[in-house]
Amino acid sequence: MPSMHQTASLLLAIASVCLAQRSSNISICDKYTTALFHQNTGANQYKLLTYLVNTVVIGGYNNSHAAAPTVKVPGILAPGEFNGTKVNLLPYFDGGLNSTNRGGGAGVAVNFLDGGGAKPVMANKPANSDGSAQSKLLTHLYSYFGILLGCSQSGKDGFPAYDGEKSQYDVHKYMGLDAYRIGYFISQVGLAASSFGVSTEDVASVADALNGAFGVKCAPATAIDPGQGPQLQSICVADSCPQAPMGDCAPYGTSAGEPLVANATLALGEGRNGTASSEASASTAGKNGGVTGPKPTGTGTGTGTGTGTGTGKSKSSSSATVLDANMWSRVLVGAAILCIFSWCS
Ligand code: HEM
Repeated sequence: MPSMHQTASLLLAIASVCLAQRSSNISICDKYTTALFHQNTGANQYKLLTYLVNTVVIGGYNNSHAAAPTVKVPGILAPGEFNGTKVNLLPYFDGGLNSTNRGGGAGVAVNFLDGGGAKPVMANKPANSDGSAQSKLLTHLYSYFGILLGCSQSGKDGFPAYDGEKSQYDVHKYMGLDAYRIGYFISQVGLAASSFGVSTEDVASVADALNGAFGVKCAPATAIDPGQGPQLQSICVADSCPQAPMGDCAPYGTSAGEPLVANATLALGEGRNGTASSEASASTAGKNGGVTGPKPTGTGTGTGTGTGTGTGKSKSSSSATVLDANMWSRVLVGAAILCIFSWCS
């Protein structure tokens, strides 16, 4: 527990962070909408978010508005690496894994590339058809990241309000995400932003805010969309995830661990095979928590019947940057997030 003195210093530090944030007086969304499209309208802010999210998803595509086209963005669907650990997020999006929460007690497989995949996305659209899972996901991401980046016209003037799930923990709870996958995702947000001319300093503040809100374990309920009230938002559940300052894991319950393979061809070695009865032991055996040990290959361990053919992560020495941030810096980052999310719009 912090002492009285520490608490007072902390409050002072939070106040300083908040004032510094407020004094900039214009959100990242508004700043770069003006820079790219001149008119800071809701429609133009939504256009910025469309370009940004599309680039995060499929990687850099031929876009006349890319201010720094030399920045290479592989995108979250491409296999990549974070802090020396290989990452492959595609099977979460193409139905390879039982990783989507549709309200039952276990994850299910959903193909989120059912609206034409990359082709419409490269044409600056979410999908070919409005009714597709792809359209729903991408339009939700445009609106949600608009809130995160402080778009002043979010919810009005051609910028649709976010109407997706309130709790990002609930959305991602069956994905068994770790610090590497989330780190890779956030690195793609940063690269995409850089490719549109966002400054290194602004990219770093966005990455800090995303890491602080979502890339931690067991953060207290937070209101990201002010209209939705405080919700559980931590999506990082594996052993590699840094604990949130003042975190409380009780409301989060027990992690479901790595998702089960739904389609071995599409899973590309991600996820785990096994029966329901093998889940607990397989997850303890460390496919995902495998950051503390080598990747399991061959037959499953313990009482599990899974074959463990997936991609358990091996710890890399450079992962220290993910794991070793001290608690007070996280508290300050948390304060900065509150400022960015609450006051920059
Ligand atoms: C900073 C981190 C992240 C944020 C802020 C974020 C945010 C979101 C949002 C707003 C949605 C839409 C929810 C809805 O439609 O109700 C979503 C869905 C989704 N996200 Fe993330 N996400 C993050 C990281 C990740 C990562 C690392 C993965 C890796 C696989 C991922 C996979 C997905 C998938 C598959 C969906 C569709 C789920 C569904 O519709 O049920 N996300 N995310």
